[in-house]
Amino acid sequence: MRPLRSILSRIVVLHIIAVAVTTLTISFALTWLLDRAIDNIHDEAMRKQATSIAAHLRAGPDGKPILQLPPEIEAIYSQPYNRYVYAVVDAEGAVLFSSQANRGPVFADWDKSKLSSEEERRGDATISGVSLRKTLNDREYWIQTGENLSNRDALTDDITSGFFREVGWITVPILLVLLVIDIAIFRRALWPLKQASAIAQQIGPTRTDIRLPADDVPLEVKPLMTAVNRALDRLDEGFRVQREFAADAAHELRTPLTVVRTRLELVEDKELVAGLRKDLDGISHLVNQLLEFAEVETAELADDETADLRDICEDVAAFVAPIAIAQKKTVSLTGSELPVLVHGNAEMIRRAVLNLAKNAVEHTAENTIVEFDLATDGTISIKDAGPGIAADEKDAIFQRFWRRDRNRSGSTGLGLSIVRRIAEIHNATLRLDNAPTGGAIFSLAFRRT
Ligand SMILES: Nc1ncnc2c1ncn2[C@@H]1O[C@H](COP(=O)(O)OP(=O)(O)OP(=O)(O)O)[C@@H](O)[C@H]1O
Ligand SMILES: [Mg+2]
Repeated sequence: MRPLRSILSRIVVLHIIAVAVTTLTISFALTWLLDRAIDNIHDEAMRKQATSIAAHLRAGPDGKPILQLPPEIEAIYSQPYNRYVYAVVDAEGAVLFSSQANRGPVFADWDKSKLSSEEERRGDATISGVSLRKTLNDREYWIQTGENLSNRDALTDDITSGFFREVGWITVPILLVLLVIDIAIFRRALWPLKQASAIAQQIGPTRTDIRLPADDVPLEVKPLMTAVNRALDRLDEGFRVQREFAADAAHELRTPLTVVRTRLELVEDKELVAGLRKDLDGISHLVNQLLEFAEVETAELADDETADLRDICEDVAAFVAPIAIAQKKTVSLTGSELPVLVHGNAEMIRRAVLNLAKNAVEHTAENTIVEFDLATDGTISIKDAGPGIAADEKDAIFQRFWRRDRNRSGSTGLGLSIVRRIAEIHNATLRLDNAPTGGAIFSLAFRRT
């Protein structure tokens, strides 16, 4: 059998077992105590009956004992089924007085001490009582009183079985109330763990700063939370070192590249210089893209940052227009003429839009237009008239270092990963569609302030 995985179900099962055991134990213990109490009452009653009969036993004028019981005492021994019986016997066992029809003794064989408890079986019945010694004129007599327990048992059985039923029934609601209380307590105790799980969901390569709340959880779970938080600290440190390394490496490469570029001035062969400069431009572009990629990897958005999309679009369009014109292509900007304010970082959004714009200018055919459109809802779309993106490439183009043509110079395959990361930081939706007339439409939908 599979062990129960949930703490709550374990509690429910253990509770039911515990309450069942307790119910049985309490019922048996109480029944036993009740039996003992009834036995004590019976012994006491028998002793009292014997004493009161003894009080009415006296010597007659001839020296023989006389027993004259008042009617209220006689009544006890005239009950149906002979529940109570008495007899007065002498030392030889001769019965002088008896309440029984056969005039026999209550106990044929009895202890002749002053007072003793007696029991005798008669067929199915058990007679239980006492014998009490009384001396009259130097002769000893014993007053025997007894109760037929088969009659008593019927009564006490009724009491004990009723008691059993009642105790049993009372435990059912108690069990339910206890269960409900316990479940409520545990749900309350486990609630911080649920919260911690929700927080843990957010932890990822881009959010390594989040920690689990170790203070609000139950004491038993706190060591686990603390240990996980320490593990996250170590991972965070590892991530930081790696990210810094990528950024540092890209940064460090810039200086030697500038040195090489300066040295190129000294080379006389202009054709060679032109070739080498083109290669250097490619490497510089790669280094810049790597640096940007490393930067946006760790970038975060402050709560109160706002950016004007109109301003950004105008800026980027103006920046790429000369590049486009040099390639016999044009750039147009339509949509909102008024500022479109969104929650975001202007510099990061500019980088994203610039990457999309450069791609569009690069891929649009000669004598076509790259169309920028800014909707008032905060959506920027850039449409080109190039080959578009094939369905099977739609996911791949956003992956780092992916490019369709690896031999194309100045193509790193990092631009769209940077765009995707910036969209992620801004909670913006990045969409890619193909225009019906051919060409790709990339759009970024930001949240308006
Ligand atoms: N508008 C587009 N039309 C057609 N193909 C595109 C378009 N934009 C991107 N691609 C394809 O997706 C690839 C990845 O683009 P991405 O911007 O990530 O890198 P890149 O442009 O090659 O390099 P970088 O952006 O660093 O200059 C490109 O190499 C190109 O093959
Ligand atoms: Mg690009």
